Amino acid sequence: MTEADLVLVVDFGAQYSQLIARRVREAHVYSEIVPRSMPVAEMLARNPAAIIFSGGPASVHADGAPDIDNAIYSSGVPLLGLCYGAQLIARDLGGEVAKTGRGEYGRTELTVNQGGAMFRDLPATQSVWMSHFDTITRAPEGATVYASTQDTPGAAFGDEARGIYGMQFHPEVGHTEHGNAMLKAFLYGVAGCRPTWTNVSIIDQQVAEIRAQVGDARVICGLSGGVDSAVAAALVHKAIGDQLTCVFVDTGLLRKNEAEQVEDTFRRGFHVDLIHVKAADRFLAALEGVDDPETKRKIIGELFIRIFEETASEVEGDPQFLVQGTLYPDIVESGGGDNANIKSHHNVGGLPDDMKFELVEPLRHLFKDEVRAVGEELGLAEEIVWRQPFPGPGLAVRIIGAITPERVAILQNADAIVVEEIKRAGLYREIWQSFAVLPAIKSVGVMGDERTYAYPIVLRAVTSDDAMTADWARIPYDVLERISSRIINEVPGINRVAYDITSKPPGTIEWE
Ligand code: XMP
Repeated sequence: MTEADLVLVVDFGAQYSQLIARRVREAHVYSEIVPRSMPVAEMLARNPAAIIFSGGPASVHADGAPDIDNAIYSSGVPLLGLCYGAQLIARDLGGEVAKTGRGEYGRTELTVNQGGAMFRDLPATQSVWMSHFDTITRAPEGATVYASTQDTPGAAFGDEARGIYGMQFHPEVGHTEHGNAMLKAFLYGVAGCRPTWTNVSIIDQQVAEIRAQVGDARVICGLSGGVDSAVAAALVHKAIGDQLTCVFVDTGLLRKNEAEQVEDTFRRGFHVDLIHVKAADRFLAALEGVDDPETKRKIIGELFIRIFEETASEVEGDPQFLVQGTLYPDIVESGGGDNANIKSHHNVGGLPDDMKFELVEPLRHLFKDEVRAVGEELGLAEEIVWRQPFPGPGLAVRIIGAITPERVAILQNADAIVVEEIKRAGLYREIWQSFAVLPAIKSVGVMGDERTYAYPIVLRAVTSDDAMTADWARIPYDVLERISSRIINEVPGINRVAYDITSKPPGTIEWE
């Protein structure tokens, strides 16, 4: 297998660093984000085919503005600076970045003056996305100005001899009409990258790495029913077959028929050694009388771990390796980490620090969409690969107040109708999550001339890219109507359906 070319995205604190890395990968070139504090020698030791400087919120003139060892400019590695990155290059290499008092925000018209590799086949005027306050008023010494806007004379520049380029705008965002074409021109045309990073190459590489890491040892993997753990398990199974044992803890708080689906996929579809622990009674007993959201989360997280450890200790060969479906954004984001604790997230991987396992994380370099593509390539069922995210504590955080077997059943039935109707309307993939919530109040209604006094279901459906922010989904009225009437007709104990039209922030996606 040939090594894929590597593009490093140096993060100067941008909102868009991950997006840059994703765009590069969509062009089939492998890309990783590195902090700007990484020594330049360390970056170069990775032998990158190109380096991209991200944007960032600072002014290059501010005290303590993030910068980088100037040795990078004479490394000979093709370099592209975006927004702040472009301003940094301009400042460091003899150009000028001024506070003109005329920043640009949003869609802006760009005029291409004299082509250059990145604009050669593109229209002379086009729309680009800007978000900056300082302005590049003079390009670096020796660089050619390729394009400008009304307020930014040096909106794109390049020094072909040195392989150093800058763009004041953001080619990585969708609003920049020809952004992808520009990035590809840089990657292929300037840096000579080869488009070899594909799902097949990802699988081959991970299979080789997993084999090298675990040798002939036994490995254990917790399955949650979600796409990440399923793809991680399928990859590890492809690499080491029977050395893998999967453990699926049925908490009784899963979606309707979910346990059967997981069992079917892994035991019957993949012939994986699967231990299905039926622990609904233990979870319900532990949650009895508990209605505080954080207490619920802690109880579930702890019990889950206890059961997982108990089961693992009984697996043949005493496994020392644990597979986790950690994704790239988890790794990138855990770099920061002084965010307020809004909710204690528990997922299958939430194991204690003193655990005995060594981790196997075959998805740690992948974004969610890449994980889905790999899952499809590995032959996982569509229902698993395209499943909407589901919280580790399951339906417990969608049942407000007390959790009883009856209330779990009500919610499972209502939720199944939501999923069915959203799928039938062809909306399941474009909606980030759509589900039912069961509040702890009752209201009066009338059904068949009888007074009813029963629970409502709250329908929650959001669009989002990453769950950090979300908007309520504009579901067509007729779909809402069908969901509402089916839930009320088919789910005993429900007499009303409401739709939650709160974005995140200020709401969160889940109700608890
Ligand atoms: P919130 O409710 O915080 O949710 O807006 C953001 C995303 O995270 C999911 N979520 C969880 N996932 N364990 C998980 O693995 C958890 O404890 C948990 N709580 C929320 C939620 O479904 C949404 O996708």
